[in-house]
Amino acid sequence: MALNNRQWVIAARPTNRMLLDGDFTWTQAEARAPGDGEVLLRTLYLSFDPSQKGQMENVGGYAAPLHVGDVMRSGGLAEVVESNDPSLKPGDKVSGSVGWQEYPTMRARDVQKLADDELLVENLGALGGTGMTAYFGLSKLGKPFPGDTVVITGAAGATGSVAGQIARIAGCRVIGIAGGPEKCAWLTEELGFDAAVDYKSENVGKAVRALAPKGIDVLWDNVGGEQLNDLLAQISLYARVVICGGISRYAAEEMPAGPQNYFNLVFKRATMHGLLVLDYLAEFPMARARIAEWIREGRISTRADIQEGLENAPKTLIRLFTGANIGKQLLKV
Ligand SMILES: NC(=O)c1ccc[n+]([C@@H]2O[C@H](COP(=O)([O-])OP(=O)(O)OC[C@H]3O[C@@H](n4cnc5c(N)ncnc54)[C@H](OP(=O)(O)O)[C@@H]3O)[C@@H](O)[C@H]2O)c1
Repeated sequence: MALNNRQWVIAARPTNRMLLDGDFTWTQAEARAPGDGEVLLRTLYLSFDPSQKGQMENVGGYAAPLHVGDVMRSGGLAEVVESNDPSLKPGDKVSGSVGWQEYPTMRARDVQKLADDELLVENLGALGGTGMTAYFGLSKLGKPFPGDTVVITGAAGATGSVAGQIARIAGCRVIGIAGGPEKCAWLTEELGFDAAVDYKSENVGKAVRALAPKGIDVLWDNVGGEQLNDLLAQISLYARVVICGGISRYAAEEMPAGPQNYFNLVFKRATMHGLLVLDYLAEFPMARARIAEWIREGRISTRADIQEGLENAPKTLIRLFTGANIGKQLLKV
């Protein structure tokens, strides 16, 4: 019997504006029977990432183009329902680019088989794209030394929270910038950040100057705009600035002028480096094993914000841009 595959397709491009519910159409199709080398999957969890908005706009060029009418692209976790490939059998758990749909049919070689253990859902967070971003952005570009002061914007999100904890493991002093007292308390009380600044109620420049009078050695930026500019004024000699994201720009009508304080890179002989996690794909297995060990040892804590129901996927993506999520944003299908 053919399965009813409920899904969300793209209805509009959200360029130079905030995402809207109406950018997606709720529809259904018959699930496609798997061909040779393919598997029919049932989606269990979806991962939500700010870059999905950029992919709908086709900015960046590092992801294949998306078009109006396409099923919305998304990473997720799924269970094999039917398999036409010897590497997978019904019941196996996999991760892959399943999209916003209940029953995707995919090539077996495009999904990754996962251990069905207590860390299964972490494969979309600390053991998935955001954890890999934190690990490689910090180790390859941030290059933290014990005793360094590390400042992280967007610190209470999926990437920032893991990056901060890895910097702590590396022996650094870590200051997180996040929106609201609940997020700041989570950073200092549960994740071991040395300090947190609530950018919604405090002046970031002033607060960080008081917390790090000798300057910032590693600046990890997820936000861009005013926060990046204020913090560039406070980098120390030979600082490493890692540009991971710029979420304050993603829904802006017009791009802001470049950061006025960029010239401090010259005075401080500092580097500012753009990060793209896909550059390190070949090394993901090593980083996954390492982060899994840190989670098991209790040295890295994670938190997922789990919404429910595929029908709520558009609203769940919007949560990232309103700051409603703490930790990794997921949806249980
Ligand atoms: N370069 C790469 O390879 C790579 C890979 C993964 C992710 N990223 C980037 O890393 C960043 C974090 O991604 P994530 O998946 O971990 O998301 P996330 O941090 O879990 O969620 C996004 C967070 O951004 C903050 N935010 C939203 N709008 C903002 C604004 N206008 N100004 C300041 N903060 C705002 C919100 O936190 P507050 O409540 O604290 O504002 C929100 O919770 C994004 O910029 C993303 O594009 C880059």
